[in-house]
Amino acid sequence: MTENEIRAVLSGIKYPGFDRDIVSLGFVRRVAIAGDQIAIDLEITSSAPEIAQTLRSDIAKAFAAIGRKNIALNILQPSPPKETSSRGRNLAPNIKRFVMISSGKGGVGKSTTAVNLAIAAAMQGKRVGLLDADIYGPNAPRMLGLENERLNSRGDKVIPPEAYGIKVMSMGMILEPSQALIWRGPMIIKTIEQFFNDVAWGDLDILFMDMPPGTGDAQLSLAQATPVSAGVVVTTPQTVALDDARRAIDMFIKMRIPIAGVIENMSGFICPCCNKEYDIFGKGGSKALAQECGAKILAEIPIEPAIREGGDSGKPIVFHNPSSETAKRYLKASDRLLSFLENAEGSNADIQPTTR
Ligand SMILES: Nc1ncnc2c1ncn2[C@@H]1O[C@H](COP(=O)(O)OP(=O)(O)OP(=O)(O)O)[C@@H](O)[C@H]1O
Ligand SMILES: [Mg+2]
Repeated sequence: MTENEIRAVLSGIKYPGFDRDIVSLGFVRRVAIAGDQIAIDLEITSSAPEIAQTLRSDIAKAFAAIGRKNIALNILQPSPPKETSSRGRNLAPNIKRFVMISSGKGGVGKSTTAVNLAIAAAMQGKRVGLLDADIYGPNAPRMLGLENERLNSRGDKVIPPEAYGIKVMSMGMILEPSQALIWRGPMIIKTIEQFFNDVAWGDLDILFMDMPPGTGDAQLSLAQATPVSAGVVVTTPQTVALDDARRAIDMFIKMRIPIAGVIENMSGFICPCCNKEYDIFGKGGSKALAQECGAKILAEIPIEPAIREGGDSGKPIVFHNPSSETAKRYLKASDRLLSFLENAEGSNADIQPTTR
């Protein structure tokens, strides 16, 4: 076998828990061939023994399938993280806490949740930023009425615009609204790093990170760039959505991100005429899911036209109608999240930066 053929086999091996292969992630350090012996050095970012174990078995299987058994596989792992709050890389040391808002599938309300939770935390006295990390479909600017905002800079850093007491940065502010983004992994990683290196965030208590749907490059890059203190999973109550939400939970567990809780969005509909509650997608299905991973339900947010209208017109409900039932639920969820962050001993993210 040639080195290229060996690399081709390795590029079929996914990094456990992610949709990326170990070659494109840059984890294959060396490939050598001596007689019928193949030597492979991997350098991975997780110290978890089960990750190395899974890779060993996947690689052995892939080579066995083409009749190759003599594989000397050497996996280099970072030393296990210490149980302290300061571990891992932090590209933005002025930011105290990072909260990642994720979901297994699209359109369940991550951005709506991120925007309203961020504003709620600001209303509760925290210094808050929102990073729209959905570089494929950024919509935080519209939801915050910032879609026509022009960016200013100070020195070589971009100043994040502010709305409703939060600092906001989004790919949507850099790109034309319709500009399609067809980017590959390494560019996403680079872009995400720029969001920290080139943005004057200043001192923040919390940076909320609104993620693209699923579990991919953006999640992995952010967990490498920052010590994520808490993950929030957004789901709708249908069983199929809950199945997807489980994947988001698995991702947090694999990245050692403590799960602050689950937001069940579009949970029932409160009729504006009679106040009767209708369970359109069912309701409460997330409880079992949360219990499974020892997390809390942070809030059940009903389907409400005002939420959608507020999102479309840049007038988030938590700010514009703080006495509504929905706003109260967001504020309560923010309370719960803030106490989780206070009690959490920093980050458990054990994915260390790779040398790129
Ligand atoms: N509880 C709700 N009631 C009514 N409309 C809602 C609710 N939550 C979200 N929406 C609306 O549903 C749509 C999708 O929500 P949102 O953009 O927040 O989802 P998302 O998970 O961020 O989507 P994507 O995966 O595309 O990033 C938006 O138009 C939003 O206004
Ligand atoms: Mg979104």
